[in-house]
Amino acid sequence: MREPLTSDTIATVKATAPALEQRGVEITTRMYERLFVDPEIKALFNEAAHISGEQPKRLAAAILAFAKNVNKVDVLEGAIDKICHRHVATHIKPEHYPAVANALLPAIRDVLGEAATDEVLAAWGQAYWFLADIMIEREKRLYSHAETN
Ligand code: HEM
Repeated sequence: MREPLTSDTIATVKATAPALEQRGVEITTRMYERLFVDPEIKALFNEAAHISGEQPKRLAAAILAFAKNVNKVDVLEGAIDKICHRHVATHIKPEHYPAVANALLPAIRDVLGEAATDEVLAAWGQAYWFLADIMIEREKRLYSHAETN
């Protein structure tokens, strides 16, 4: 498990979450443009959910909600659990997580421009991986549980 986030990182993420939420749809759209350049990643997504426009909204909304609550992730327990079950059903593995980070962080900069300083992006990167690690761990447990049943 990664180190806990520093209070500076938490403060930076929380201070910038409202700006990211306001422009959430733009960021999401840009993130998926970047993410789906890789056909293997694109294939992981259920086309129907993506075409309906639901999946990009869910993923981005979840990342933003998590970042806002990054200092009290225990309140997100139920939401995290639901996502992890969906991830296991769609065969998401630890090695897929960098692709989302590599799409999300540049998308934030694409949309927010200079407001997304290096400090802001670094803080968001730390928050992303903090959450990703929690999810990866939980998904590992779900996969091994599935194997023994
Ligand atoms: C911290 C990182 C992530 C967050 C917060 C997140 C969030 C979500 C959410 C909220 C859902 C919808 C769950 C539901 O149906 O209720 C979802 C589903 C999904 N996620 Fe993630 N996700 C993350 C990482 C990833 C990664 C790394 C991949 C693969 C590259 C991925 C691929 C998918 C797929 C394929 C689905 C199912 C889509 C469908 O139903 O068609 N996610 N995720």
